[in-house]
Amino acid sequence: MTSNPAGNDVDPQFRSDVIAGLSQRQKAVPARWLYDLAGSELFDEITRLPEYYPTRTETALLKAVVPQVAEIVGEGRALVEFGAGSVTKIPLLLNAILPSAFVPIDISGDFLRSSAGALQKDFPDLPIHPVEADFMKPIRLATGVADGQRLGFFPGSTIGNMVPHSAVNLLRSMRDTLDEGAMLLIGFDRVKPRDILIPAYDDAQGVTASFNLNLLERINRELGADIDIGKFHHKAIWNDAESRIEMHLVAGSDVRFAIAGEEFSMQAGESIHTENSHKYDLRSAHTLLLAGAWTPIMDWSDEKDWFSLVLAEAQPLRMAP
Ligand code: AVJ
Repeated sequence: MTSNPAGNDVDPQFRSDVIAGLSQRQKAVPARWLYDLAGSELFDEITRLPEYYPTRTETALLKAVVPQVAEIVGEGRALVEFGAGSVTKIPLLLNAILPSAFVPIDISGDFLRSSAGALQKDFPDLPIHPVEADFMKPIRLATGVADGQRLGFFPGSTIGNMVPHSAVNLLRSMRDTLDEGAMLLIGFDRVKPRDILIPAYDDAQGVTASFNLNLLERINRELGADIDIGKFHHKAIWNDAESRIEMHLVAGSDVRFAIAGEEFSMQAGESIHTENSHKYDLRSAHTLLLAGAWTPIMDWSDEKDWFSLVLAEAQPLRMAP
């Protein structure tokens, strides 16, 4: 690792993602870079906003349906969570399915260890095996977790962050990680009217705006850049053709800046695309799962059809016409 002007370590992947992304015609930075410590704390604040319906809708739905989930998946599977962050949702599931072990997988080791440690206090007898890894790639599970069947858990509509091509790659890699016979409980945020969607991603208090703008602060701090953040504003748009909310950072006037010795310029109105949040109807959610070799076997939605949990199974691949 090299150092930035503040003497901190520079993540070379962050630097190359930012430079490559800002060199495109439509500037873009991969959404995962929004989630540094400050970004993760701001996202946590987002989940409690009145306009941000997904977290509370999914949590209430999960609470209502865990007995049915438990009946289908049975007891004693190893529970594997992709992206360890659902501190309120996981205990609901643990209490219902009585897993043989819990395996949270997250790219951030610090975050992973602190959330696993907190959970261990409430579930002292549960074997917890945190795995620090990028869950986009297949992961070899520890022996002990590898025997017996598994239940994957992928809540929060995190799948919606990915374009369908990447989402299918992820689902296939989850199947490789969890193996045939596994089940997957996955949350999908549903298509709904714009006047509900837009405020959820552009709240009155401006927390989502701070979350988005924090990316520029991170670029300035970690990559020693000189972006005039005051010239940018947050924007959330509904892209109907792609069925997704997009977050952008829009330049309010012409701007120039340098990042790690590279010069960039943007015209007034030009934007950096920072995050996608795809919204699905139930049929397209099922088709996405099938494309990733997961067979939907049950689904549940809240009374407004704002959010769905789908239970799918990694069935043996049979010869098909
Ligand atoms: C964490 C990806 C599920 O897309 O709703 C919330 C992220 N971004 N507000 C979402 C997010 C802005 C969130 N996910």
